Amino acid sequence: MTAKFRQRTQLHLLTGFIAGFISAFVLLIYVYDVNHTSSCWPSTVPITTTKNELFLTQPRIESLTIGPRVLCMVLTCPENLEREAKNVYGTWGKRCSKLIFASSENYEPLSVVQVVEADGGSYADLWNKTREGFRYVWQVYGQDYDWFLKADDDTYVIMENLQYMLSYYDPDMPVYFGYKMTRYNVSYMSGGASYVLSRQALNRFMLQAYPSEIICPRPKKMGIEDFYMGICLQNVGVHLIDSSQALEADDKPKFMPLDLEDYLLSSNSSSLPDWLHLMSLSEVKTGFNCCSKHSIAFHYTSPERMYLYEFLLYHLQIFGHHIRTEPVLKQISYVELTERFPLENNSVITNLQEMSEKPNNF
Ligand SMILES: *[C@@H]1O[C@H](CO)[C@@H](O)[C@H](O)[C@H]1NC(C)=O
Ligand SMILES: *[C@@H]1O[C@H](CO)[C@@H](O)[C@H](O)[C@H]1NC(C)=O
Ligand SMILES: *[C@@H]1O[C@H](CO)[C@@H](O)[C@H](O)[C@H]1NC(C)=O
Ligand SMILES: *[C@@H]1O[C@H](CO)[C@@H](O)[C@H](O)[C@H]1NC(C)=O
Repeated sequence: MTAKFRQRTQLHLLTGFIAGFISAFVLLIYVYDVNHTSSCWPSTVPITTTKNELFLTQPRIESLTIGPRVLCMVLTCPENLEREAKNVYGTWGKRCSKLIFASSENYEPLSVVQVVEADGGSYADLWNKTREGFRYVWQVYGQDYDWFLKADDDTYVIMENLQYMLSYYDPDMPVYFGYKMTRYNVSYMSGGASYVLSRQALNRFMLQAYPSEIICPRPKKMGIEDFYMGICLQNVGVHLIDSSQALEADDKPKFMPLDLEDYLLSSNSSSLPDWLHLMSLSEVKTGFNCCSKHSIAFHYTSPERMYLYEFLLYHLQIFGHHIRTEPVLKQISYVELTERFPLENNSVITNLQEMSEKPNNF
Protein backbone atom coordinates (compact mmCIF):
# COMPACT_ATOMS: atom_id res chain seq x y z
CA MET A 1 0.00 0.00 0.00
CA THR A 2 1.49 3.31 -1.03
CA ALA A 3 1.43 6.21 1.36
CA LYS A 4 -0.74 8.13 -1.07
CA PHE A 5 -3.31 5.31 -1.23
CA ARG A 6 -3.38 4.97 2.55
CA GLN A 7 -3.92 8.69 2.84
CA ARG A 8 -6.88 8.49 0.44
CA THR A 9 -8.43 5.60 2.39
CA GLN A 10 -8.14 7.59 5.57
CA LEU A 11 -9.75 10.54 3.83
CA HIS A 12 -12.66 8.35 2.71
CA LEU A 13 -13.02 6.99 6.20
CA LEU A 14 -13.05 10.47 7.60
CA THR A 15 -15.61 11.68 5.04
CA GLY A 16 -17.79 8.66 5.76
CA PHE A 17 -17.54 9.29 9.44
CA ILE A 18 -18.49 12.95 9.11
CA ALA A 19 -21.38 12.16 6.73
CA GLY A 20 -22.64 9.47 9.12
CA PHE A 21 -22.40 11.83 12.03
CA ILE A 22 -24.31 14.54 10.18
CA SER A 23 -27.10 12.21 9.07
CA ALA A 24 -27.43 10.78 12.57
CA PHE A 25 -27.64 14.29 13.90
CA VAL A 26 -30.27 15.31 11.35
CA LEU A 27 -32.24 12.15 12.13
CA LEU A 28 -32.01 12.91 15.81
CA ILE A 29 -33.33 16.42 15.29
CA TYR A 30 -36.13 15.09 13.12
CA VAL A 31 -37.13 12.41 15.61
CA TYR A 32 -36.98 14.96 18.37
CA ASP A 33 -39.21 17.29 16.39
CA VAL A 34 -41.76 14.59 15.60
CA ASN A 35 -42.05 13.57 19.21
CA HIS A 36 -41.97 17.11 20.40
CA THR A 37 -44.59 17.48 23.07
CA SER A 38 -45.88 20.78 24.17
CA SER A 39 -45.01 21.87 27.65
CA CYS A 40 -48.05 24.12 28.01
CA TRP A 41 -50.64 21.39 28.10
CA PRO A 42 -50.90 17.92 29.62
CA SER A 43 -49.97 14.95 27.48
CA THR A 44 -53.57 14.17 26.53
CA VAL A 45 -53.26 16.66 23.71
CA PRO A 46 -52.94 14.63 20.52
CA ILE A 47 -49.56 15.11 18.87
CA THR A 48 -49.44 15.11 15.11
CA THR A 49 -46.47 13.61 13.38
CA THR A 50 -45.96 15.64 10.26
CA LYS A 51 -43.52 18.49 10.17
CA ASN A 52 -45.16 21.77 9.64
CA GLU A 53 -43.53 24.20 7.25
CA LEU A 54 -43.76 27.84 8.05
CA PHE A 55 -47.14 29.08 7.03
CA LEU A 56 -46.55 32.56 8.29
CA THR A 57 -47.73 34.91 5.60
CA GLN A 58 -47.92 38.14 7.55
CA PRO A 59 -51.71 38.23 7.82
CA ARG A 60 -53.25 41.54 8.53
CA ILE A 61 -54.92 41.61 11.91
CA GLU A 62 -58.00 43.41 10.78
CA SER A 63 -60.93 44.27 12.90
CA LEU A 64 -64.34 43.36 11.70
CA THR A 65 -66.29 46.48 11.08
CA ILE A 66 -69.57 44.97 12.16
CA GLY A 67 -70.40 43.13 15.33
CA PRO A 68 -69.09 43.35 18.86
CA ARG A 69 -65.38 43.91 19.41
CA VAL A 70 -63.71 40.76 20.70
CA LEU A 71 -60.23 40.68 22.18
CA CYS A 72 -58.74 37.19 21.97
CA MET A 73 -56.24 36.13 24.59
CA VAL A 74 -54.58 32.89 23.52
CA LEU A 75 -52.47 31.10 26.11
CA THR A 76 -49.23 29.71 24.73
CA CYS A 77 -45.62 29.05 25.72
CA PRO A 78 -42.26 29.63 23.97
CA GLU A 79 -42.08 25.99 22.80
CA ASN A 80 -45.39 26.35 20.97
CA LEU A 81 -44.70 29.51 18.97
CA GLU A 82 -43.40 27.78 15.88
CA ARG A 83 -46.36 25.48 15.43
CA GLU A 84 -49.43 26.31 17.48
CA ALA A 85 -49.23 30.07 17.99
CA LYS A 86 -48.10 30.79 14.45
CA ASN A 87 -51.00 28.85 13.02
CA VAL A 88 -53.56 30.53 15.25
CA TYR A 89 -52.08 33.81 14.04
CA GLY A 90 -52.34 32.68 10.44
CA THR A 91 -55.92 31.40 10.67
CA TRP A 92 -58.75 32.32 13.03
CA GLY A 93 -56.71 34.73 15.15
CA LYS A 94 -56.69 37.36 12.40
CA ARG A 95 -60.46 37.72 12.75
CA CYS A 96 -60.27 38.81 16.39
CA SER A 97 -60.66 42.55 16.85
CA LYS A 98 -57.40 42.23 18.80
CA LEU A 99 -55.19 39.17 19.21
CA ILE A 100 -52.79 38.73 22.13
CA PHE A 101 -50.82 35.63 23.01
CA ALA A 102 -50.07 35.31 26.72
CA SER A 103 -46.76 33.56 27.37
CA SER A 104 -43.63 33.60 29.52
CA GLU A 105 -41.55 35.35 26.85
CA ASN A 106 -42.21 38.24 24.46
CA TYR A 107 -42.25 37.69 20.73
CA GLU A 108 -43.40 40.78 18.91
CA PRO A 109 -43.92 39.43 15.36
CA LEU A 110 -46.76 37.24 16.64
CA SER A 111 -48.06 39.67 19.33
CA VAL A 112 -46.83 37.35 22.07
CA VAL A 113 -46.68 39.13 25.41
CA GLN A 114 -44.77 37.99 28.46
CA VAL A 115 -47.25 37.96 31.33
CA VAL A 116 -45.34 35.73 33.77
CA GLU A 117 -41.69 35.15 34.64
CA ALA A 118 -39.61 33.10 32.18
CA ASP A 119 -39.70 30.12 34.53
CA GLY A 120 -43.39 30.51 35.37
CA GLY A 121 -45.01 29.43 32.13
CA SER A 122 -45.28 25.64 32.36
CA TYR A 123 -48.51 23.66 32.54
CA ALA A 124 -48.24 23.62 36.32
CA ASP A 125 -48.40 27.42 36.27
CA LEU A 126 -51.41 27.67 34.02
CA TRP A 127 -53.63 29.27 36.63
CA ASN A 128 -51.13 32.01 37.30
CA LYS A 129 -50.60 32.57 33.58
CA THR A 130 -54.33 32.93 33.06
CA ARG A 131 -54.69 35.35 35.97
CA GLU A 132 -51.73 37.41 34.83
CA GLY A 133 -52.88 37.27 31.21
CA PHE A 134 -56.24 38.73 32.16
CA ARG A 135 -54.53 41.34 34.31
CA TYR A 136 -52.41 42.47 31.36
CA VAL A 137 -55.37 42.51 28.99
CA TRP A 138 -57.51 44.42 31.47
CA GLN A 139 -54.82 47.00 32.24
CA VAL A 140 -53.98 47.69 28.62
CA TYR A 141 -57.25 47.04 26.78
CA GLY A 142 -59.92 46.58 29.45
CA GLN A 143 -62.16 49.40 28.25
CA ASP A 144 -61.38 49.19 24.53
CA TYR A 145 -63.18 45.95 23.74
CA ASP A 146 -66.60 44.50 24.50
CA TRP A 147 -65.73 40.85 25.02
CA PHE A 148 -62.65 38.94 26.12
CA LEU A 149 -62.12 35.44 24.79
CA LYS A 150 -59.66 33.09 26.46
CA ALA A 151 -58.53 30.26 24.19
CA ASP A 152 -55.64 27.82 24.11
CA ASP A 153 -53.27 27.59 21.18
CA ASP A 154 -54.96 24.34 20.12
CA THR A 155 -58.46 25.85 19.98
CA TYR A 156 -60.04 26.85 16.67
CA VAL A 157 -62.59 29.67 16.91
CA ILE A 158 -65.18 30.73 14.37
CA MET A 159 -65.25 34.42 15.11
CA GLU A 160 -68.39 35.34 13.15
CA ASN A 161 -70.47 32.80 15.08
CA LEU A 162 -69.04 34.06 18.33
CA GLN A 163 -70.01 37.60 17.39
CA TYR A 164 -73.45 36.44 16.34
CA MET A 165 -74.10 34.88 19.75
CA LEU A 166 -72.60 37.83 21.61
CA SER A 167 -74.66 40.35 19.68
CA TYR A 168 -77.62 39.12 21.72
CA TYR A 169 -75.96 40.26 24.96
CA ASP A 170 -74.84 43.52 26.46
CA PRO A 171 -71.13 43.55 27.39
CA ASP A 172 -71.90 45.77 30.36
CA MET A 173 -73.82 42.94 31.98
CA PRO A 174 -71.79 40.46 34.07
CA VAL A 175 -71.86 37.32 31.89
CA TYR A 176 -69.51 34.52 30.89
CA PHE A 177 -70.07 31.93 28.13
CA GLY A 178 -68.64 28.56 27.22
CA TYR A 179 -69.20 24.82 27.58
CA LYS A 180 -70.62 24.60 31.08
CA MET A 181 -69.43 21.77 33.30
CA THR A 182 -69.92 20.77 36.90
CA ARG A 183 -67.36 19.40 39.31
CA TYR A 184 -67.82 19.14 43.08
CA ASN A 185 -71.16 20.86 42.51
CA VAL A 186 -69.32 23.89 41.19
CA SER A 187 -70.13 25.14 37.71
CA TYR A 188 -67.53 26.52 35.34
CA MET A 189 -66.72 26.72 31.64
CA SER A 190 -64.36 24.20 30.03
CA GLY A 191 -60.99 25.89 29.43
CA GLY A 192 -59.83 24.09 26.29
CA ALA A 193 -63.11 24.79 24.52
CA SER A 194 -62.45 28.48 25.28
CA TYR A 195 -64.66 30.87 27.19
CA VAL A 196 -65.73 34.50 26.89
CA LEU A 197 -66.08 37.22 29.53
CA SER A 198 -68.02 40.40 29.07
CA ARG A 199 -66.23 43.67 29.79
CA GLN A 200 -68.23 43.85 33.01
CA ALA A 201 -67.23 40.28 34.01
CA LEU A 202 -63.56 41.09 33.38
CA ASN A 203 -63.85 44.26 35.44
CA ARG A 204 -65.33 42.35 38.35
CA PHE A 205 -62.70 39.63 38.00
CA MET A 206 -59.88 42.16 38.20
CA LEU A 207 -61.32 44.54 40.78
CA GLN A 208 -62.92 42.08 43.17
CA ALA A 209 -61.79 38.50 42.53
CA TYR A 210 -58.13 38.80 41.51
CA PRO A 211 -57.00 40.63 44.66
CA SER A 212 -58.85 38.39 47.13
CA GLU A 213 -57.87 34.86 48.06
CA ILE A 214 -61.19 34.46 49.83
CA ILE A 215 -63.13 35.06 46.62
CA CYS A 216 -60.73 33.62 44.09
CA PRO A 217 -58.04 30.90 44.50
CA ARG A 218 -54.56 32.35 44.83
CA PRO A 219 -51.94 31.37 42.25
CA LYS A 220 -50.49 27.98 43.09
CA LYS A 221 -48.95 25.07 41.23
CA MET A 222 -51.34 22.79 39.36
CA GLY A 223 -54.24 25.15 39.86
CA ILE A 224 -57.10 24.14 37.63
CA GLU A 225 -57.49 27.18 35.48
CA ASP A 226 -61.03 26.73 34.18
CA PHE A 227 -62.48 25.42 37.45
CA TYR A 228 -60.90 28.25 39.43
CA MET A 229 -62.08 30.84 36.93
CA GLY A 230 -65.61 29.52 37.43
CA ILE A 231 -65.28 29.93 41.19
CA CYS A 232 -63.90 33.45 40.94
CA LEU A 233 -66.53 34.65 38.51
CA GLN A 234 -69.57 33.22 40.27
CA ASN A 235 -68.28 34.61 43.54
CA VAL A 236 -68.48 38.11 42.06
CA GLY A 237 -72.00 37.74 40.68
CA VAL A 238 -71.22 36.82 37.09
CA HIS A 239 -73.95 34.83 35.29
CA LEU A 240 -72.75 31.60 33.69
CA ILE A 241 -74.35 31.07 30.29
CA ASP A 242 -73.96 27.67 28.73
CA SER A 243 -73.66 28.12 24.99
CA SER A 244 -76.38 25.55 24.34
CA GLN A 245 -78.84 27.94 25.99
CA ALA A 246 -77.40 31.16 24.73
CA LEU A 247 -79.43 31.40 21.54
CA GLU A 248 -83.12 30.63 21.39
CA ALA A 249 -84.14 27.91 18.95
CA ASP A 250 -80.67 26.37 19.09
CA ASP A 251 -80.08 24.01 22.00
CA LYS A 252 -76.79 22.46 20.92
CA PRO A 253 -73.40 23.24 22.40
CA LYS A 254 -71.19 25.71 20.57
CA PHE A 255 -67.89 25.47 22.44
CA MET A 256 -66.63 21.90 22.07
CA PRO A 257 -64.16 20.54 24.65
CA LEU A 258 -63.04 17.66 22.40
CA ASP A 259 -61.67 17.35 18.92
CA LEU A 260 -64.57 17.64 16.46
CA GLU A 261 -63.50 14.35 14.92
CA ASP A 262 -64.09 12.52 18.20
CA TYR A 263 -67.72 13.58 18.16
CA LEU A 264 -68.27 12.89 14.49
CA LEU A 265 -66.63 9.49 14.37
CA SER A 266 -68.27 8.01 17.46
CA SER A 267 -71.40 6.05 16.67
CA ASN A 268 -72.62 6.67 20.20
CA SER A 269 -71.31 8.69 23.05
CA SER A 270 -70.11 5.73 25.12
CA SER A 271 -66.76 5.92 23.37
CA LEU A 272 -66.24 9.49 24.52
CA PRO A 273 -64.25 9.96 27.74
CA ASP A 274 -66.01 9.35 31.05
CA TRP A 275 -65.10 12.74 32.44
CA LEU A 276 -67.09 14.40 29.69
CA HIS A 277 -70.26 12.50 30.59
CA LEU A 278 -69.67 13.04 34.27
CA MET A 279 -69.12 16.75 34.03
CA SER A 280 -71.43 17.79 31.19
CA LEU A 281 -74.78 19.33 32.03
CA SER A 282 -76.80 17.43 29.50
CA GLU A 283 -76.47 14.31 27.41
CA VAL A 284 -73.43 14.32 25.15
CA LYS A 285 -74.42 13.65 21.56
CA THR A 286 -72.32 12.33 18.71
CA GLY A 287 -72.43 12.52 14.94
CA PHE A 288 -73.91 15.59 13.32
CA ASN A 289 -76.05 16.09 16.41
CA CYS A 290 -72.98 16.85 18.48
CA CYS A 291 -72.72 20.51 17.83
CA SER A 292 -74.65 23.59 16.94
CA LYS A 293 -74.77 24.84 13.38
CA HIS A 294 -73.61 28.06 14.99
CA SER A 295 -70.64 26.31 16.59
CA ILE A 296 -68.00 28.65 17.88
CA ALA A 297 -64.96 26.70 19.07
CA PHE A 298 -63.29 23.30 18.81
CA HIS A 299 -60.55 22.08 21.14
CA TYR A 300 -57.56 19.83 20.31
CA THR A 301 -57.13 21.27 16.85
CA SER A 302 -53.74 20.37 15.43
CA PRO A 303 -51.96 23.09 13.44
CA GLU A 304 -52.66 21.11 10.26
CA ARG A 305 -56.34 20.87 11.13
CA MET A 306 -56.53 24.62 11.60
CA TYR A 307 -55.69 25.08 7.95
CA LEU A 308 -58.19 22.42 6.98
CA TYR A 309 -60.98 24.19 8.90
CA GLU A 310 -59.83 27.50 7.50
CA PHE A 311 -60.03 26.25 3.93
CA LEU A 312 -63.38 24.51 4.33
CA LEU A 313 -64.96 27.42 6.18
CA TYR A 314 -63.53 30.46 4.45
CA HIS A 315 -62.32 29.45 1.01
CA LEU A 316 -64.32 26.55 -0.31
CA GLN A 317 -67.51 27.46 -2.11
CA ILE A 318 -70.13 24.94 -3.01
CA PHE A 319 -71.78 25.49 -6.34
CA GLY A 320 -75.42 26.50 -6.00
CA HIS A 321 -75.31 27.19 -2.29
CA HIS A 322 -76.20 30.66 -1.23
CA ILE A 323 -75.22 32.36 1.95
CA ARG A 324 -78.15 32.43 4.34
CA THR A 325 -78.46 35.48 6.46
CA GLU A 326 -79.23 35.05 10.14
CA PRO A 327 -81.93 37.02 11.90
CA VAL A 328 -80.72 40.09 13.71
CA LEU A 329 -81.16 39.51 17.41
CA LYS A 330 -82.69 41.91 19.87
CA GLN A 331 -80.53 42.25 22.95
CA ILE A 332 -81.67 40.48 26.09
CA SER A 333 -82.73 42.72 28.98
CA TYR A 334 -81.25 42.48 32.45
CA VAL A 335 -84.52 41.14 33.85
CA GLU A 336 -84.64 38.46 31.19
CA LEU A 337 -81.00 37.62 31.83
CA THR A 338 -81.51 37.04 35.53
CA GLU A 339 -84.62 34.95 34.83
CA ARG A 340 -83.09 32.74 32.21
CA PHE A 341 -79.61 32.53 33.70
CA PRO A 342 -79.91 32.86 37.48
CA LEU A 343 -76.72 33.22 39.46
CA GLU A 344 -75.14 29.98 40.64
CA ASN A 345 -75.70 28.76 44.16
CA ASN A 346 -72.12 29.16 45.32
CA SER A 347 -72.77 28.07 48.90
CA VAL A 348 -70.76 24.88 48.23
CA ILE A 349 -67.66 26.98 47.69
CA THR A 350 -66.64 27.58 51.24
CA ASN A 351 -63.01 27.53 52.12
CA LEU A 352 -60.74 28.21 49.20
CA GLN A 353 -57.60 28.21 51.29
CA GLU A 354 -58.25 24.62 52.29
CA MET A 355 -59.12 23.44 48.81
CA SER A 356 -56.70 20.67 47.87
CA GLU A 357 -53.95 21.49 45.39
CA LYS A 358 -55.38 19.14 42.79
CA PRO A 359 -58.71 17.54 43.63
CA ASN A 360 -59.17 13.89 42.72
CA ASN A 361 -60.38 13.01 39.25
CA PHE A 362 -59.08 16.10 37.58
C1 LIG B 1 -47.44 34.62 39.18
O1 LIG B 1 -46.88 35.45 38.18
C2 LIG B 1 -46.40 36.69 38.65
C3 LIG B 1 -45.91 37.46 37.45
O2 LIG B 1 -44.86 36.76 36.81
C4 LIG B 1 -45.30 36.47 39.69
O3 LIG B 1 -44.92 37.72 40.21
C5 LIG B 1 -45.82 35.58 40.79
O4 LIG B 1 -44.78 35.26 41.66
C6 LIG B 1 -46.40 34.31 40.23
N1 LIG B 1 -46.97 33.52 41.31
C7 LIG B 1 -46.78 32.22 41.44
C8 LIG B 1 -47.40 31.57 42.63
O5 LIG B 1 -46.14 31.56 40.64
C1 LIG C 1 -73.28 17.69 45.35
O1 LIG C 1 -74.58 17.99 45.81
C2 LIG C 1 -75.37 16.88 46.04
C3 LIG C 1 -76.78 17.35 46.40
O2 LIG C 1 -76.74 18.53 47.15
C4 LIG C 1 -74.75 16.05 47.15
O3 LIG C 1 -75.53 14.90 47.41
C5 LIG C 1 -73.35 15.63 46.75
O4 LIG C 1 -72.69 14.97 47.78
C6 LIG C 1 -72.53 16.84 46.34
N1 LIG C 1 -71.29 16.38 45.75
C7 LIG C 1 -70.10 16.86 46.09
C8 LIG C 1 -68.92 16.25 45.42
O5 LIG C 1 -69.97 17.74 46.91
C1 LIG D 1 -72.15 2.10 21.70
O1 LIG D 1 -71.00 1.67 20.99
C2 LIG D 1 -70.28 0.61 21.61
C3 LIG D 1 -69.07 0.34 20.75
O2 LIG D 1 -68.38 1.51 20.49
C4 LIG D 1 -71.18 -0.61 21.75
O3 LIG D 1 -70.49 -1.61 22.46
C5 LIG D 1 -72.45 -0.23 22.51
O4 LIG D 1 -73.31 -1.34 22.54
C6 LIG D 1 -73.13 0.95 21.86
N1 LIG D 1 -74.26 1.38 22.69
C7 LIG D 1 -75.46 1.69 22.20
C8 LIG D 1 -76.48 2.13 23.19
O5 LIG D 1 -75.70 1.65 21.02
C1 LIG E 1 -77.89 26.68 47.95
O1 LIG E 1 -77.51 25.37 48.27
C2 LIG E 1 -77.57 25.09 49.64
C3 LIG E 1 -76.95 23.70 49.88
O2 LIG E 1 -77.18 22.84 48.82
C4 LIG E 1 -79.02 25.18 50.10
O3 LIG E 1 -79.10 24.90 51.48
C5 LIG E 1 -79.53 26.60 49.83
O4 LIG E 1 -80.89 26.69 50.13
C6 LIG E 1 -79.32 26.96 48.36
N1 LIG E 1 -79.63 28.36 48.20
C7 LIG E 1 -80.39 28.80 47.22
C8 LIG E 1 -80.59 30.29 47.16
O5 LIG E 1 -80.92 28.06 46.41
